[in-house]
Amino acid sequence: MLRFDGKSAVVTGAGSGIGKAIAAALARQGAQVAILERDPEVGQAAADEISQTYDGRATFYRCDVTSQTEIRDVAAAIVSQQGTIDCLVNNAGIAHVGDAATTSEADFDRVMNVNCKGVYNCAHEILPIMVRGGGGVICNIASTVAWFGIGERFAYSASKGAVVAMTYSIARDFVADGIRCNAILPGRIHTPFVDGFVKKNYPGQEEEMFQKLADFQPVGRMGQPEEIANAAVFLCSDEASFVTGSIHAIDGGTISIR
Ligand SMILES: NC(=O)c1ccc[n+]([C@@H]2O[C@H](COP(=O)([O-])OP(=O)(O)OC[C@H]3O[C@@H](n4cnc5c(N)ncnc54)[C@H](O)[C@@H]3O)[C@@H](O)[C@H]2O)c1
Repeated sequence: MLRFDGKSAVVTGAGSGIGKAIAAALARQGAQVAILERDPEVGQAAADEISQTYDGRATFYRCDVTSQTEIRDVAAAIVSQQGTIDCLVNNAGIAHVGDAATTSEADFDRVMNVNCKGVYNCAHEILPIMVRGGGGVICNIASTVAWFGIGERFAYSASKGAVVAMTYSIARDFVADGIRCNAILPGRIHTPFVDGFVKKNYPGQEEEMFQKLADFQPVGRMGQPEEIANAAVFLCSDEASFVTGSIHAIDGGTISIR
């Protein structure tokens, strides 16, 4: 069950947090994993750690998902090493705090470039490889904010809503090519993303804010990256062969039982 032996997987933003946990879980299940990451330090460290644990099954490729040229070059390098790409996990993302009136044009563009255009860039370059290979699977990491409003997440929510819409669109357009596409909406997950967010936006109130953020989930805590990785492994696996165009909230009850 849930084996990926002989499969080639790409995870973006896999140097940290959720992406790193997904890359490790796919390698544990037998996949050869390409870690696409813009920060070479964390990207290489994640690849080394996963490789040492899982028989060399992780390789670091430095790239920025906002650059289609970089994604094209990296995808070609992965194909020359692995033969094809079977799974793509679009995970790279950045946060931003602000409402529609306070979000600057530069910040809106920056968030949309990574969270929305990054998904398009990877899909644009990797879907033709999957079609040539006879099929594949894409798992997009969106967010619960695609489905409900939380304060001052205007640009971030817009970008994640677009990820959900792109998920439906890709699933529809490539269903006849044997390609499945689904999305996960993580609730609040304890990663460097959350720690950085609290530190930057609530200096001096870190502990209090952290507790407030944890209490927000009906289960009374934040999730762990591995809890998102488990869902991603399932959605990318052959066991999920009937699952496409579907959106999965993995959120400690945040959307359904508030
Ligand atoms: N942590 C949460 O509570 C939470 C909740 C919902 C959704 N998410 C989503 O999950 C994903 C991962 O979040 P995380 O908490 O693990 O974040 P993180 O900041 O810990 O990790 C994100 C990684 O993406 C990389 N990255 C950022 N921009 C990039 C780019 N342009 N090109 C390549 N790599 C880039 C970063 O260097 C970092 O290593 C994001 O898309 C985020 O929006 C997170």
